[in-house]
Amino acid sequence: MDDSVSNYDFNQWTGNQYCKILTGPHDGGGDRAGGGRKALKTFAFDHCFWSIDENNPKFAGQDHVFNALGKDVLERAFEGYNACIFAYGQTGSGKSYTMMGTFQDTGHGIIPRLCNAMFSKIDSHCDDESLAVKVEVSYMEIYNEKVHDLLDPKGSKQNLKVREHNILGPYVDGLSQLAVSSFEDIDNLMSEGNKSRTVAATNMNNESSRSHAVFNIILTQTLTDISSGVENEFNNYLNFLKE
Ligand SMILES: Nc1ncnc2c1ncn2[C@@H]1O[C@H](COP(=O)(O)OP(=O)(O)OP(=O)(O)O)[C@@H](O)[C@H]1O
Ligand SMILES: [Mg+2]
Repeated sequence: MDDSVSNYDFNQWTGNQYCKILTGPHDGGGDRAGGGRKALKTFAFDHCFWSIDENNPKFAGQDHVFNALGKDVLERAFEGYNACIFAYGQTGSGKSYTMMGTFQDTGHGIIPRLCNAMFSKIDSHCDDESLAVKVEVSYMEIYNEKVHDLLDPKGSKQNLKVREHNILGPYVDGLSQLAVSSFEDIDNLMSEGNKSRTVAATNMNNESSRSHAVFNIILTQTLTDISSGVENEFNNYLNFLKE
């Protein structure tokens, strides 16, 4: 990230949802036309959150972030769309915090909140005989170009192979896919999985996730036509990536 962005004073945030980033090294120049490497580039974005001072009315907690990003992802998932939330940024910038958060309710990040909301939604459909919903999860890390299964019941840090399926595309061969029926199930699996993650201290973060982690929810909805008994099954995938 360039200084012009990292030094941005979010208290001055006006809601003008564009930012300019100088992509090359500073040389004191201003706005330049043209598409050269050092040109100022304008990017559009949908949301910007500030979470430094809880007492400030502009403070955005985990609930703000979930309401702005997670809720719609869940709604679309039930409509049959695949979705991916990708957290990217330098060490200590808050990726793990945003995605997982802390153990207290108010500190829960996007993944636990989304799982919780997903099971509440499934429970609200439990009287509907024509709809059956199955939820499975997988959790892996990519470290030094190697893929490890974080939910491997045997706990062996075996290297898994990434292969290409002719219809479904790339997949990880042998990755555990475990059925879950409540948020507590997911919470327990993730806590176990997180213990296997490769972490180390960096200058900016005592518990830095040194690997990339991919948490995947596979939602299978089976719609049954009660009169004819014909079943229609569709799968969709929610991917959460943490750098
Ligand atoms: N919005 C926030 N509110 C309160 N604490 C935060 C917030 N964002 C990050 N933190 C805290 O800052 C520290 C670093 O955050 P985190 O571990 O999420 O960084 P990271 O981006 O995952 O870094 P790395 O790439 O090294 O894994 C943690 O102690 C985390 O709890
Ligand atoms: Mg991290």
